[in-house]
Amino acid sequence: MSPQPQAAVGAPLSRVDGRLKVTGKALYAAEHDVDGAVHAVIVDASVGRGRITSLDAGDAEAHPGVLKVIHHRNAPKLPYRDNSGSNNPPGRRLRVFQDDRVLFHGQPVAVVVATTLEAAQHGASLVEVGYDAEQPSTDLHEATPDKPTNYARGDAEAGLRDAAVRLDLTYRTARNHHNPMEPHATIARWDGDKLTVWDKTQWVLGTQTELSTVFGLPMDSVRVISPFVGGAFGSGLRCWPHTIVAAVAARETGRPVKVVLSRRQQYFGTGFRPSYEYRLRVGSDRRGRLAAAVHEMDAETSSYETFSETIMPAGQMLYSMPDVSQAYRSVPLDVNTPIWMRGPGFATAAFVIESAMDELADRLGIDPIELRRRNEPSEDESNGLPFSTRRLRECYTVGAREFGWQRRSQRPRSRREGDWLIGMGVAVGAYETQRNQAQARVRLDADGTALVETAASDMGPGTYTSQTQVAADALGLTMRTVTFRLGDSLYPPTPPHGGSQTMASVGSAVLDGCDQVRRQAIKLAVEDRASPLYGADADDIVVRSGRLQVKNAPARGETYRSLLTRNKRSHLDALGSYAGAPSPARRSFYAYNATFAEVAVDATLGLVRVRRMLGVYDAGRIISPKLAESQAIGGIVGGIGTALLEHTVTDHRDGRIVNANLADYLVPVNADVPEVQAIYLDGEDREADPLGVKGLGEVVHVGVAPAIANAVFNATGHRVRELPITAEALL
Ligand code: MOS
Repeated sequence: MSPQPQAAVGAPLSRVDGRLKVTGKALYAAEHDVDGAVHAVIVDASVGRGRITSLDAGDAEAHPGVLKVIHHRNAPKLPYRDNSGSNNPPGRRLRVFQDDRVLFHGQPVAVVVATTLEAAQHGASLVEVGYDAEQPSTDLHEATPDKPTNYARGDAEAGLRDAAVRLDLTYRTARNHHNPMEPHATIARWDGDKLTVWDKTQWVLGTQTELSTVFGLPMDSVRVISPFVGGAFGSGLRCWPHTIVAAVAARETGRPVKVVLSRRQQYFGTGFRPSYEYRLRVGSDRRGRLAAAVHEMDAETSSYETFSETIMPAGQMLYSMPDVSQAYRSVPLDVNTPIWMRGPGFATAAFVIESAMDELADRLGIDPIELRRRNEPSEDESNGLPFSTRRLRECYTVGAREFGWQRRSQRPRSRREGDWLIGMGVAVGAYETQRNQAQARVRLDADGTALVETAASDMGPGTYTSQTQVAADALGLTMRTVTFRLGDSLYPPTPPHGGSQTMASVGSAVLDGCDQVRRQAIKLAVEDRASPLYGADADDIVVRSGRLQVKNAPARGETYRSLLTRNKRSHLDALGSYAGAPSPARRSFYAYNATFAEVAVDATLGLVRVRRMLGVYDAGRIISPKLAESQAIGGIVGGIGTALLEHTVTDHRDGRIVNANLADYLVPVNADVPEVQAIYLDGEDREADPLGVKGLGEVVHVGVAPAIANAVFNATGHRVRELPITAEALL
């Protein structure tokens, strides 16, 4: 087959759903107009651990408009069948209203259903809950860890002993919350034994499976609809208790029920990026060649589920060294279960490893980029596999040139402008290229328009647009004649919209489905005596703007419309599929970046202002340059937050989160964000997947925080090993 001309892929197109979004016509979970829907407000536990001893719902039930108050004493017993899929971590998931136990501050203990939101809110304030409270354990640094998960190659302790230069560094990272603009929300409706939910989720099929197992329903009795997601960053990767609450409330009242988490409830009603204590001991020779590293990580999890994220691989594959040992320990706490947040695992590992590399460079008097070049591995030393593509050296070269790295002084605290100390820093990011089984249904109608459907989500990166680009080129249609639908469990299955795998997985299925349909049309034409293409070699035919034509003699051809109409075909269709990453893997697949930061630090006040940021990315083929740039900007802005602002604070006396709001949980605002530049290296990774992409939404966030921390050191001479970097730490 002749390769299709690429008109849409690679073009800096605007979002196909942009107009819907800015005119308010894109419907988010809570906005769906479901006939007869009533409102529910969750009452959350005001103690951090213990038992419910009394629950008085009388005043709430008497409040005008209140339909019902549901709690563990009157809620139906639910099957809660095993569901080890759907991103539920190992453990026993929280069972809403099934017993009197309180496992964390904020756990749902009751729900008030009312005809208006105001009545439900007021009703919730009238529910009187008494507790037998126990002292919760919420401090990572005080609690007892589980047994470690280990990794070892060589003899890291011996390697460290023999190393000429040794560093022993302990880092702490704060808990971070996703804080998407759209709050998590669910509308649930029962039609007999069939359940429909409109939900904010990054995985309609995961939510469908969870609801089916919790309520003991066949999968096809549950439908999950989620056409638009207003940001998630990982917080929508599993089904949270409020979705179950909505379904229970709908069943108990016989009405469709809407639950919207308040901003405060987001902090314990969904997950978070766990806090870490991470000790890294690293040794090298005097020229900076790494010899050994010992990583010891402690991370938060809940008392009822053991969440862990992919934090170990970075220490195994970023740099070449013979001896590595790692121990990862989950620390069960009386908190709700964490979840992945942008660049999960790798972002935290990069803060530690890339800060340490900067520290080593300073100790040895070597330029930090040169130190990294000296330790560039020739294969993935965690498994001995060759890298598919790893272009970090180009990232360094391009980044150093574009950022003006030669203006950096190797000596810290040597550049000053008035009150401001100026510094530059660099760090590396990597994120594993994930891809999994996916399907997409493609239908080409006789009028020359196409419809593509998959169960994927779009939490904001622009799935509608980028997938339409893939489909348009593969079908030989214009963007405007392709409609892409997603976010419905009735559509063909896809993996979670996370881990930067949607383009590789869903995109490859879309490509396959569109290729199949195009081939069907070509076959129909070359075998049709009435077609100008009759008898032509199918391999010579391409489709442009809906017209099939001989590649080197474009005058010979006809449109899909004439071909299908003449043949009395209402449509052509196909189910596209992608089988996922080949197993066992024969290559090591990662996306990479080098991220550069320049900061100014007020010498008297310790205030850090980020002045410039640049990310240079090796992410494979870029389908949608405009969206990719937006992802980079977003990833960098998020990294500024992690580096300097974001910190979920728990009062360890009672387990309450004290800054569960957007006034006290600081995120970067426009004034915090400087000039940000993103450069994607040209190229593709043909071994990664049929589209040649490596994933980019996660990797753009990895390495941002350490680049800033390293710039702060270069500016001030203060090495801060705790995130966020506060003014106090610099005084
Ligand atoms: Mo991403 S943290 O998998 O949404």
